Amino acid sequence: MRVLVLHGPNLNLLGTRETAIYGTASLEDIDARLKALAAELGIEVECFQSNSESVLIEHLHAARGRFDAVVFNPAAFTHYSIALRDAVAAVGLPVVEVHLSNIHAREDFRRRSVIAPVAAGQISGFGVDSYLLGLRAAVAVAAREVPSR
Ligand code: DQA
Repeated sequence: MRVLVLHGPNLNLLGTRETAIYGTASLEDIDARLKALAAELGIEVECFQSNSESVLIEHLHAARGRFDAVVFNPAAFTHYSIALRDAVAAVGLPVVEVHLSNIHAREDFRRRSVIAPVAAGQISGFGVDSYLLGLRAAVAVAAREVPSR
């Protein structure tokens, strides 16, 4: 089983960015934790970050046929990118939406996710553990789904 982990804009700054909200783990730390869990679970994981909506869309398109599921932190795009939502819906892969912070306990504009209705589910508020739980959820959902490709 292969899982793609996609990180959206500004997540390359994790470790120094608003640490009271996002914690002190860097993106490299998170990717290393994901790789260690993947090894434990006997699966493969590939991690990729971009600040660009179009690059994230291209990666979702390219995931078809190469990955069984996606763990996706769309970051700020969560709240308004219909293009990313449509890409998630189009690729037919199970996508688990994850957030480090609890987006439902923050500003009003963060409470709405345009991705959630087309995601397999959402995990929000557990810091780095959101990603690790997201990987476990992606594996569980991919194992039960008949691939649509
Ligand atoms: C985030 C929450 C978003 O609202 C924010 O724009 C981010 C990070 C999170 O992981 O908590 O960049 O997705």
